[in-house]
Amino acid sequence: MEIRIKKADKLMERPDDSNLGFGSIFTDHMLLMNYTKGKGWHDLRIEPNAPVAMPLSTMVYHYGQAVFEGLKAFRTSSGEIRLFRPKDNIARLNRSSRSLCIPEIDEKEALEALTEFIRLEKDWIPSATGTSLYVRPTIISTDAYLGVRASHSYLYFVILSPVGAYYSEGFNPVKIWVTKDHVRAVRGGLGEAKTPANYAASLYAGEEAVKNGYTQVLWLDGVEQKYIEEVGSMNIFFVIDGEVVTPMLNRSILPGITRDSVLKLTTEWGMPVSEKKITIDELFEAHENGKVSEVFGTGTAAVISPVGELKYGDKVMYIGDGKVGPVAEKLFKTVTDIQYGNIEDTHGWIETV
Ligand code: COI
Repeated sequence: MEIRIKKADKLMERPDDSNLGFGSIFTDHMLLMNYTKGKGWHDLRIEPNAPVAMPLSTMVYHYGQAVFEGLKAFRTSSGEIRLFRPKDNIARLNRSSRSLCIPEIDEKEALEALTEFIRLEKDWIPSATGTSLYVRPTIISTDAYLGVRASHSYLYFVILSPVGAYYSEGFNPVKIWVTKDHVRAVRGGLGEAKTPANYAASLYAGEEAVKNGYTQVLWLDGVEQKYIEEVGSMNIFFVIDGEVVTPMLNRSILPGITRDSVLKLTTEWGMPVSEKKITIDELFEAHENGKVSEVFGTGTAAVISPVGELKYGDKVMYIGDGKVGPVAEKLFKTVTDIQYGNIEDTHGWIETV
């Protein structure tokens, strides 16, 4: 693997770790690679982070043929740099690409290139508790063409953003709005792919949620609108009668990597765990019977995010008196302890940079 490196002449000023927010500050460089039909992926390079001009006829602007990922690099207290489950993110990027007729990248080379890129930008990795360097690999279609077909050329890029918590609530419970009027994805559609279309589909209901004082939307299935799916920025978990329950993957739910980590950890802790179909009515009924002790979301950006309130039509469910429950608390601590190197990684989830 050969990477051409052109360093920025002037480096930007580093932000203060205490107020990073999420996704608005970017590092000095970007990682790029092109694909052309007949030639394959080529020209892997690191360049100064700058706007990339493309004709307005570029296909991604019109038909949204694109996929992306989100993963994080952490700085441990001893100064070591570590990535959490990057191989899984790269494998999922290729899975998403298959759904969108985008050519796959070489996973081993992609990890090597990413590692080299992060090593170059390592001074951007914040060290305050709860902070990390968010990594956003993306592939966009780049043919300048208006016919509807898969593009013959693509751009792979990775940008890096030092971040704090995704939600302004931090690790405090968020309020979630269950929409009955909109769907995010349908079976056989793109729901399990990490592609911009799913996020575009979530905006209208997201605004409705915010207008009503809620942070995010919980999506129901797109066919019958009764089975719980996911939140869009995170997967969802419930603790019902002591059992950890999450909707089973059905091809319209994103197969979250933190979701998978939570399933593995809670199983190892000996808790009853199930991935199953669960309706919103069943959930409210279980709550009315006093059986729902916790609700929380999981995601790279969101980590473990407790949910304190769910609103569905005229029903409102309050969970855990606005406090973080013990399962969410233990998961948050364990996942972040593995990420920041405070406990041993016994799962092979960490790649040292
Ligand atoms: C992530 O968790 O990394 C995501 O891509 C979700 C996004 C809404 C920030």
